[in-house]
Amino acid sequence: MNTLAGPTPPPDTVLEDIEVELFVRALKLRYGYDFSQYAPASLKRRVLQLVQAQHADTVSAITARLLHEPDFLPVVLEGLSVPVSEMFRDPDVFRALREQVFPVLASYPQINIWQAGCAHGQEVYSLAILLEEAGLYERSQIYATDFNESALNQAQEGIYPARDAQLWSRNYLAAGGSHSLADYYSARYELIKLDQRLRRNVIFANHNLVTDEVFCEAHLVLCRNVLIYFSDPLQDRTLGLFRDSLVRGGFLCLGTRESLAFAPSAVDFTPMNAALRIYRLESRNGGGG
Ligand SMILES: C[S@@+](CC[C@H](N)C(=O)[O-])C[C@H]1O[C@@H](n2cnc3c(N)ncnc32)[C@H](O)[C@@H]1O
Repeated sequence: MNTLAGPTPPPDTVLEDIEVELFVRALKLRYGYDFSQYAPASLKRRVLQLVQAQHADTVSAITARLLHEPDFLPVVLEGLSVPVSEMFRDPDVFRALREQVFPVLASYPQINIWQAGCAHGQEVYSLAILLEEAGLYERSQIYATDFNESALNQAQEGIYPARDAQLWSRNYLAAGGSHSLADYYSARYELIKLDQRLRRNVIFANHNLVTDEVFCEAHLVLCRNVLIYFSDPLQDRTLGLFRDSLVRGGFLCLGTRESLAFAPSAVDFTPMNAALRIYRLESRNGGGG
């Protein structure tokens, strides 16, 4: 029966959910960026942060801008992609790479490393320094990828706020660094610039883990603090990409809050250092060597 009062309006959160869904759909239809398989709660949080940062009243308001203002796309990608990082983040992981993984990598004549989700490049420079100090950098090739073009541009420049250098220096030493981190950058005013020689064996490239395919044969894949934003099926797709990219016996390093548990694509990996989320793709005979 119709009443004069009309349908009851949905609660604000339900409306927001509908708006976020429309926003994600607009992003995919208009530009091909597919966030539909990201973990919903954290995605919604970031969309709402974007609304606030843009001083907009509703998600629909930024959806309209997304559809009609192509210049708004990089702002949206920056807001949704969380390109937060630091040099030698989780120093124990870098120490384990140096002590447990590099000795195996040293047996290869050419070492290919895929660093997926490289953000502003802090991890790339950390890895380059580590390889340099281990005497392995000359025969290494690092493919550093992200789908955020502006983050990639900043990564290539290697310029960061000087205020971060203190923490990064401590991380570097905790990771077993054998010099002073300051040997690898020059400081000017409020900024530091990483030695661009560290980039000589790095290729920065745009690659989207949701839609793009494998592009190299890797001995080590580093993808830290990216899967945490993905739903289970998307994590599984991504792990499948890493498995297909890695040589038998190759290494996979995830973020310390991430794990392979429950992902069907993970069956071929065995933990090498479970606490630090370093895994190894089994060799065909299951030996891992
Ligand atoms: C929190 S940062 C992690 C940076 C670095 N790996 C670390 O752990 O310090 C997450 C990065 O993943 C990237 N990312 C998110 N979704 C992606 C996708 N579908 N394809 C490629 N990169 C993605 C973001 O752009 C962002 O730079």
